[in-house]
Amino acid sequence: MKQRQVIIDRSRCVGCGLCSRVCVAHNIAVSGQKAGTIGDACIFCGQCLAVCPQKAISMAGCGDGQVEKKGDVRLCPDAVLDVIRFRRSIRTFQQRAVPREVLEQVLEAGRLTHTAKNAQDLSFVVLDRERDRVEGMALKLFRAVRPIVGRFSPLARNSRIDDHFFFFRAPIAIAVLAENRTNGVLAAQNMEFVAEANGLGVLYSGFFTMAARASRKIKQAIGVPKGKQVAMTLVLGYPGVKFLRSTPHRELDARYL
Ligand SMILES: Cc1cc2nc3c(=O)[nH]c(=O)nc-3n(C[C@H](O)[C@H](O)[C@H](O)COP(=O)(O)O)c2cc1C
Repeated sequence: MKQRQVIIDRSRCVGCGLCSRVCVAHNIAVSGQKAGTIGDACIFCGQCLAVCPQKAISMAGCGDGQVEKKGDVRLCPDAVLDVIRFRRSIRTFQQRAVPREVLEQVLEAGRLTHTAKNAQDLSFVVLDRERDRVEGMALKLFRAVRPIVGRFSPLARNSRIDDHFFFFRAPIAIAVLAENRTNGVLAAQNMEFVAEANGLGVLYSGFFTMAARASRKIKQAIGVPKGKQVAMTLVLGYPGVKFLRSTPHRELDARYL
């Protein structure tokens, strides 16, 4: 990989100090009306270049180019809350393919997700052609361990592990891989929002995630690299069911201290 580097164009810099103010690593200082890097603690989060009014900062070896903000993107809070209120786990899907451009937008939501220490450790495995084969591997594992797990868990004892127990005949499943599990789960949530905005229904397959984490064979089949884990698996497709109202939730449990 190309060496990552923050580059400050001193001829453009006016020494306003905004870059230094947003630098979480305290890696930029202004001296003599010009900003400069002062250490090697940079996490390459890019906030310095995103805030610079002079476009004086760039980064080498850090991936894609930047997009100028055209205006403030602000969603209506009530609408956002309704999206959260009315989203449901979907387990019945239409047998309709997910268009490539929709899939790419969902993956883009994952790619752009923020990560702890700006690790950008996310990758994605789209289970399309291999979906049934991989689901079959997870089924084999779950069916083998069920008699043992079922002794302790009524859920495992009572659940029917049918041939579509993990992916519910959905056209696509996406395994989200990450070094840090929290990063992967955050990506999954962002991907769900974009999927829903495209009219897709989503299920978090915790069970498949569990199987993939436990099985070396599944990890091999889907290509989980060393150091990464399956953080979450999203099952996606056009919903075959329409929910008419929200579902009961426990009362808010929050304290102000
Ligand atoms: C982390 C996580 C893992 C889940 N795993 C599964 C799963 O493997 N299979 C399944 O049928 N549902 C799974 N679900 C769906 C939950 O059962 C569901 O979110 C919950 O019952 C509430 O229903 P709702 O999502 O429709 O509001 C999972 C949900 C979450 C958040």
